[in-house]
Amino acid sequence: MQPDTRVRRIRSYVLRSGRLTTAQRRALDELWQTYGLTLPLPLPLAKSLDTRHGQQQVFGRAAPLHLEIGFGDGRALLHMAEQNPHCNFIGAEVHRPGVGRLLLQLEARQLTNVKVFCDDGLAVLSLGVAPRSLQAIYLYFPDPWAKKKHHKRRIVQPAFVELVASRLVGGGAFHFATDWQPYAEQALQCLEQSGQFENCAGANRFAPRRPARPVTKFERRGRHLGNPVWDMVMRRIGA
Ligand SMILES: C[S@@+](CC[C@H](N)C(=O)[O-])C[C@H]1O[C@@H](n2cnc3c(N)ncnc32)[C@H](O)[C@@H]1O
Repeated sequence: MQPDTRVRRIRSYVLRSGRLTTAQRRALDELWQTYGLTLPLPLPLAKSLDTRHGQQQVFGRAAPLHLEIGFGDGRALLHMAEQNPHCNFIGAEVHRPGVGRLLLQLEARQLTNVKVFCDDGLAVLSLGVAPRSLQAIYLYFPDPWAKKKHHKRRIVQPAFVELVASRLVGGGAFHFATDWQPYAEQALQCLEQSGQFENCAGANRFAPRRPARPVTKFERRGRHLGNPVWDMVMRRIGA
């Protein structure tokens, strides 16, 4: 199964070389086999309890499955995993130092409900997760690609929204936050126009910040500058 070509064309990131600390390098070398996942998986992760399906093999249990795309340094993912031990979490991030940091934290906290892809979240959604398997998808502060000529690099666009809808279970939620208003408005319009989601805040509205939503590293920086934030929670329509 190859990702839809329209999805493959979205280049939402630039691979920064970013220096790895000694600890992060060790984590990538030594902890990857415990926490890391590499595409292609023998089977895409599924919500099914069936032991032949990937989730049982990967986590040793089947549980409600959540995905964060572009987790940065991983602090939001860690927080969600600690607060929801009855759920399994996967994270996708292309920036190796961030992945290394998350691995170190997973080891320090002895968390067993998180697995990590150092890969494009679009490929993870397409190839690593079975249709109708995710309880929630989180996209917090995606790169805003502010210049008009770069808007095509924004991850939220119709092909992405279609993929997100296909991977969520009915009633599952797509969580989004950004501090870039034009991107927030575009994302809201794109999700509502897909006809696949119900906006939890009511049509054409942004959601109040949920107290349970963790503050991300990027958000913390923006707060110091007084940047407002737009939140969205869109529920997948259907059984
Ligand atoms: C502005 S940062 C925000 C990071 C984090 N969510 C936060 O709020 O602190 C955006 C992150 O998304 C990652 N990213 C962008 N496109 C991605 C993709 N297609 N798959 C995985 N990660 C991606 C980048 O590497 C970067 O770390």
